Amino acid sequence: MELDLRDRVVVVTGAARGIGAVIAARFAAEGARVVALDLAFPAGPANDGPAVEQVVCDVTDPDSVQAAVDWVVERHGGIDVLVNNAGIVADSTVLETDWATWQKCFDVNVGGTFLMCRAVAPHMQAVGRGRILNAASFAAIVPSVGSAAYAASKAAVVQLTRVLSSELGPHEITVNAYAPGMVPTTMNGFADMPAAQQDRLLDTLSLRRWESPDDVADLLIFLASDQASYITGTLVDVSGGKLATQIPAKAYGR
Ligand code: NAI
Repeated sequence: MELDLRDRVVVVTGAARGIGAVIAARFAAEGARVVALDLAFPAGPANDGPAVEQVVCDVTDPDSVQAAVDWVVERHGGIDVLVNNAGIVADSTVLETDWATWQKCFDVNVGGTFLMCRAVAPHMQAVGRGRILNAASFAAIVPSVGSAAYAASKAAVVQLTRVLSSELGPHEITVNAYAPGMVPTTMNGFADMPAAQQDRLLDTLSLRRWESPDDVADLLIFLASDQASYITGTLVDVSGGKLATQIPAKAYGR
């Protein structure tokens, strides 16, 4: 099955590093015209592959979002695919979470997704097609202790996705959320944890290995393709079995 994304205009938020940078590079490798948005970018070329354009944008700022979307539409004539990858984590118990932390988490994860969708969707409506892909998390379904702000914000992203999928259905725009599992990045520092702690986390996965950003990108490339045109309003689990069973480590004799 060939997933032809050549010349599609793809916008990826939070794409200066981590999963977003790989998503951007992978779409570019498929021949898409990719614009990465982020608060700042490291100096030098983004990757060794095809070029990814970089635009500074704060997804929590409506003016910044509008300016970035206007720039992309002016330059490329429209937007075919929007990946709302930008996100932040908040790691504290409910009683220890201050208001500013709670608000910031919702501003970026939910507010940023809302603002980007609101700015981009009219351009998709104008041509009667489009793909919106929103980063949720397994935490939207099964949260951890100390993840209230993050988990609640990701659950909100899932509901936003469902509502928007219905509102944009008449325009042939699909809207889906996806739930990665545990991808070692700057956000979580999994790879730097003591071995025993890493083992404890890996023991929660049916596939018992860290997820790579490419595992996420593989899914998104499919969801962005014409072959996924009948999939909308869903949360796609790409977590290696994080949500499947209670004690998957038993299958490993652990
Ligand atoms: P990361 O922390 O490595 O990268 C996040 C990027 O978002 C950074 O480049 C950051 O500058 C950007 N960003 C933050 N606030 C922004 C704003 N206001 N405007 C524009 N850009 C902003 O995170 P990672 O691990 O790559 O995660 C990417 C997405 O995947 C997030 O939404 C995260 O919640 C989600 N996710 C990640 C998992 C993991 O295991 N790493 C698991 C489940 C979901």
